[in-house]
Amino acid sequence: MPLERLQVDSVRCLKAVDVELDPHRNYLFGPNGAGKTSFLESVYLLGRGRSFRTRQTARLVQHGSHDLTVFGQVRSGDRRHRVGLSFAGGELKVRIDGETAPGMARLAEVMAVHVMGSKLHRLIEAGPSERRRFVDGGVFHVEHAYLHTWRHYRRVLGQRNAALKRGLGGAPLEVWTRPVLAAAAAVHAARQRYVEELSGLVAQVGSRLLEHSLRIVYRPGWRQDISLEQALHESLERDTRTGFTQVGPHRADIDIRMAAGSVRDHASRGQQKLIAAALVLAQVRLFGQRTGRGGLLLVDDPAAELDTGSLDRLMAELEPLATQLFLTGLSERAMRPRQGFPVFHVEQGRVAAVV
Ligand SMILES: Nc1ncnc2c1ncn2[C@@H]1O[C@H](COP(=O)(O)OP(=O)(O)O)[C@@H](O)[C@H]1O
Ligand SMILES: [Mg+2]
Repeated sequence: MPLERLQVDSVRCLKAVDVELDPHRNYLFGPNGAGKTSFLESVYLLGRGRSFRTRQTARLVQHGSHDLTVFGQVRSGDRRHRVGLSFAGGELKVRIDGETAPGMARLAEVMAVHVMGSKLHRLIEAGPSERRRFVDGGVFHVEHAYLHTWRHYRRVLGQRNAALKRGLGGAPLEVWTRPVLAAAAAVHAARQRYVEELSGLVAQVGSRLLEHSLRIVYRPGWRQDISLEQALHESLERDTRTGFTQVGPHRADIDIRMAAGSVRDHASRGQQKLIAAALVLAQVRLFGQRTGRGGLLLVDDPAAELDTGSLDRLMAELEPLATQLFLTGLSERAMRPRQGFPVFHVEQGRVAAVV
C-alpha cells in the first residue's frame, strides 16, 4: 500500500507540495520549522483522517487559508487508489476513487499509517487512555470489524450509565447490564488476543533496541481473579452513586515492564522513547504478519533525542520492515541516509527532491 504521490496544500506551513515517493524509503531534511513534521502530518491525516499531534484539525489549516487539502495516490497490489481529503468550514471530507468515503475506516483499509513522533513517550508517561488508543488502533488495523465491536460497546456502556444516572437498580438496571457484558466480552477477547501476540514481538524488539528485557501485560479493566459480571456486581454501589460504570474494558490498560519493574518508574526519558519505539515497531511487525501488507511508518526526527548507539539500533530495526518509511532529520549528517533512496529538501514550507 505504498503512497506513490502526495500533493498537499495549506497544511500548516506547507505550500503546493507535489512529490513522487519511493515505495520503500523517503528521507526529508531541512532546518527547524521548515515543514518536515507538517509533511508527515499530511501523510497521517490522509491515512487516519485526523492529526497525530492535535485533536483539532482546524489548527492544521494554514493561517490565512480557508481550507486544507491532501491528495494521495496509493498502490494496492496492481490497483491504484486516489485518496483526497479536505477540511473546510469545520468539515472533513474524504473521497476515495472519486466517491465520498462512508467513514474513516475505509481510509485505513487503503493505507495503514503508523507513527513515531515527538510525542511518542506519551505512550509511557500519559494515562491509560493513550495506551488503550494504541491497542485499539492496532487491533483495528488487523481486524477492521473491531471498530464496530468497540463502538457498540461504547454505546451500550453509555446506555447503562444513563440508566445509573436515572437511579435504576435491580432488574431494570440488569436490562442495561446484559448488553454491556456481551459487548465487553467481544472487546476484551479481541484485545487480549492482540496484546498476547504483540507482547512476543515487543520482547524481541525490546531486547535488541534497549538491551533490556521488555514485556507488556494486558490489564482488562477489572480485577482478573473475578469475572466482569462479578466485578460489576461489586462496584454496583459506587456505580449507582457516581452514575458511571467503574469497571470494564473502558478502564483497560497495558502494563509495560522491564526486569526492574514498571517502565514508568524505572526507565529514563531516553529509554522511555526507545520503549515506546519498540511498541510501535512491534505493532508494525504484527500488522505485517497478520495482513501480509506493509503499511507506512513515519519516523519524525529520530536523531533529536537519541544517542548515536540508540539511533543505530533503531535504524537496524527499521531495515527489515516491509514498510514504506518516511524519515526526517535536520541534516543528512545526523541521519546518514541509505544510498539509492530519494532525499527531499524541506525549506519554508516547500518540499523538493534532491537530485
Ligand atoms: N496553521 C499554520 N499556518 C501556517 N504556519 C504554521 C501553522 N502551524 C504551524 N505553522 C508553522 O509551520 C512551521 C512548522 O513546521 P514543522 O513542520 O513543525 O517544522 P519542522 O518539523 O521542519 O521543524 C513552523 O514554523 C510553524 O510556525
Ligand atoms: Mg519537526
